[in-house]
Amino acid sequence: MAGYIAGHRTRRFGCDGELQYLYVVPSRRRSGIASALLRCLAEWFVTEGARRICVDVDADSHAAGLFYAKHGAELVRPHWMEWQDIGRLLPGGRRL
Ligand SMILES: CC(C)(COP(=O)(O)OP(=O)(O)OC[C@H]1O[C@@H](n2cnc3c(N)ncnc32)[C@H](O)[C@@H]1OP(=O)(O)O)[C@@H](O)C(=O)NCCC(=O)NCCS
Repeated sequence: MAGYIAGHRTRRFGCDGELQYLYVVPSRRRSGIASALLRCLAEWFVTEGARRICVDVDADSHAAGLFYAKHGAELVRPHWMEWQDIGRLLPGGRRL
């Protein structure tokens, strides 16, 4: 296994969902695995009608904040970032 991702529905901070876990083994980083996993989870969120998604950014991970920012998340409070519409990560910014 090279990595994993998990998310769930929540009303935390008025969001529709939360990205809970994301991890890629060190030897496979910077090869697009987390980006692919994030698109898979985004697809699931959109299927669920969940667009506004929060994530608690690991303060010890320099890469995490840069990764989420690269994918359009914004810092909204200390160590919390959000996507206003995670559907924008999907081809054509998918609308259901
Ligand atoms: C954060 C993490 C999931 C990224 O996984 P990854 O598979 O390496 O990410 P990707 O290859 O899809 O990276 C996509 C982009 O994110 C950014 N990025 C990712 N890691 C980065 C790093 N170490 N430094 C700077 N930018 C980084 C880059 O813009 C990168 O694009 P590029 O490689 O073309 O420059 C991985 O480093 C990890 O598992 N870290 C430890 C656990 C962790 O912090 N999880 C998040 C908890 S909130």
